[in-house]
Amino acid sequence: MSEVTLSNLSKTYPAAGKNPAFQAVKGIDLQIRDREFMVLVGPSGCGKSTTLRMIAGLEEITDGTIAIGETVVNNTLPKDRDIAMVFQNYALYPHMTVYDNMAFGLKLRKYKKDEIKARVGEAASMLGLQDMLDRKPKALSGGQRQRVAVGRAIVRKPKVFLFDEPLSNLDAKMRVSTRAEISKLHKSLDATMIYVTHDQVEAMTMGDRICIMNAGEIMQVDTPLAVYNEPANLFVAGFIGSPPMNLLYGTVAKSGDQLVFQENDGQTAGIQVPLDARLSRLAQKRIGSEIVFGIRPEHIKMLSSPQAAPAASIPAIVDNSEPMGSETFLYLLTGSHKLVARIPPTGRFEPDTATQLAFETEKAHLFDPQSQERITE
Ligand SMILES: Nc1ncnc2c1ncn2[C@@H]1O[C@H](COP(=O)(O)OP(=O)(O)O)[C@@H](O)[C@H]1O
Ligand SMILES: [Mg+2]
Repeated sequence: MSEVTLSNLSKTYPAAGKNPAFQAVKGIDLQIRDREFMVLVGPSGCGKSTTLRMIAGLEEITDGTIAIGETVVNNTLPKDRDIAMVFQNYALYPHMTVYDNMAFGLKLRKYKKDEIKARVGEAASMLGLQDMLDRKPKALSGGQRQRVAVGRAIVRKPKVFLFDEPLSNLDAKMRVSTRAEISKLHKSLDATMIYVTHDQVEAMTMGDRICIMNAGEIMQVDTPLAVYNEPANLFVAGFIGSPPMNLLYGTVAKSGDQLVFQENDGQTAGIQVPLDARLSRLAQKRIGSEIVFGIRPEHIKMLSSPQAAPAASIPAIVDNSEPMGSETFLYLLTGSHKLVARIPPTGRFEPDTATQLAFETEKAHLFDPQSQERITE
């Protein structure tokens, strides 16, 4: 079994020169299951690489434990952890051929020549590198170099693969195809993989589960759809999804018998959104309290004309639109907020046009601005 268990794992980089000590990872708990594809995702500097490097044994642990299977590996040398790591910059030896780059780790470990040949051959055919074994890295494209780096990891047949932003140096098209290749590889190798990226699209498309990190802490761990549909807090709501969820700050108010979200705005009245039965139940103990109303761009509908607007419609002014081909992102101004809606590509909206929106409130979320958590009861 090769699950990886991080318990209360911390890393503080010591003070150096003018820089004070810095806690990059703050006591995280995470279990990566046997044969799982786990993605660590979060903004630059949130501690992803530090976490991965501690798992690999390349960075000393300040506190906590790392176990692979049942074995705590805190004091195990990197080479004895049965782990292979693929880096963003490939880290190939420029003076060696593709074959020698892939064979290098096995030679160091004194594998027999036949065994090395068989393993490199097998990895090369999995990755489509059979015809390039005699080339040096400088005669390869970025995508091919990254495949050699992956091949060098595969030949070792490790229990756990670690990837640190392996696609960041590839162009957009190459990123998409290599993304799919790595996912396929995960299925055929049946190994545990931990994959670091700052790109939420990579996280959503590749992960069995996603671990979202921010400032050295874990924000949420769940399947891609669960983090999209049920974000645990404001950070996840704003990070996963592109364009991101619209987050409107306001208060819970009463309008007659009905609970409404009342947008905060110092100058104008701000917009009001009637809360449906589900949202009213979530908000009923918070009348008069501050609240954040979250709605994804695809859950905002444009109403054709002000005359057709039902009572619950929201006035907005068109700011600008971005036609994407298959859809259009429409940026709108309401009260004090700028919203984005995803609409069909056929609609034409000139800047400064007054329009009416409807929110699909059955898909909306409420958050507590103090705790930052999504309100679930
Ligand atoms: N060797 C180091 N010494 C001091 N601080 C470091 C060192 N390596 C990383 N850091 C800091 O720790 C934080 C987390 O870094 P890192 O794990 O590389 O983030 P990520 O991979 O998520 O972008 C950053 O603020 C970074 O500046
Ligand atoms: Mg990093």
